[in-house]
Amino acid sequence: MNDPLVYLNGAMTPLSEAKIPVLDRGFIFGDGVYEVIPIYGRRMFRSDQHMARLFRSLDAIGIPNPHDKEQWMRLIGQVAAAHPADDQMAYLQVTRGVAKRAHAFPKDVTPTVFIMTNPIVLPSTDMRTSGVACVSMEDKRWLRCEIKSVSLLGNVLAAQHAVENDAVESIQFRDGFLTEASSSNVWIVKHGKLMGPPKDNLILEGIRYGLIEELCAAGQIPLEARRITRAEVFAADEVLLSSATKEVLPVASIDGQMIANGKPGPVYRQLYAAYQAAKAA
Ligand code: PDD
Repeated sequence: MNDPLVYLNGAMTPLSEAKIPVLDRGFIFGDGVYEVIPIYGRRMFRSDQHMARLFRSLDAIGIPNPHDKEQWMRLIGQVAAAHPADDQMAYLQVTRGVAKRAHAFPKDVTPTVFIMTNPIVLPSTDMRTSGVACVSMEDKRWLRCEIKSVSLLGNVLAAQHAVENDAVESIQFRDGFLTEASSSNVWIVKHGKLMGPPKDNLILEGIRYGLIEELCAAGQIPLEARRITRAEVFAADEVLLSSATKEVLPVASIDGQMIANGKPGPVYRQLYAAYQAAKAA
């Protein structure tokens, strides 16, 4: 499927023919928001939560929501139905629209809406059984990380830092405290308890964040959201990543230093099994 059908501003079109004007504010200013929604067996996973976060992101940056939830679901469903893969990852983006270049919001502008899907690429069995290597770095992003904004330069640089160090993710710290990775949330386990940073403006609240809260409650895994120091991360029994495409994934090392014995642990295994059960439910 080299040239899948995508949705752009009211029409289905082959990806190769989907075009936006160069004055689109997404292109000029990174002025827009996005979502990434997994689709398993042709069913969107946690779509209500993804829609709620999209609406929060739009609201946070003052872009009028161009569609109600039913319309969004219909449009995403239409793009997904045109793709042959059963398991996909839907990407949707809304920008403020096209206007003469000036920083503040233009008047009477129509948001640009784009939706595409791709086959979902999940971590390999080797990544799951061995865990993955990560690197650490200072979080130098802005202070509105709770908005799922397409202005991702900080995240792009963090992801590139990982690649250049043969790592899967960059785990970021702000003033000595854990925030998140370039495109995933980060968790630690100590003495059987799962801990993650608080849901504030310093991280994107992943849809997996809420799912993990539910899975912990159902599986009797104690969970605490609090500030986590760098020392606590390196001394953890387990470190986990979570995102739409990583699901939950064990971290074997950070900066070449092994986490515990460097092997995926029991909390990872329990959460991964529960995650798979939730997908199939
Ligand atoms: N990224 N934090 C950041 C900075 C992210 O970019 C993501 C997801 C997450 C996890 O959120 P969720 O559980 O909703 O996937 C946390 C997506 C997958 C991306 O940008 O491709």
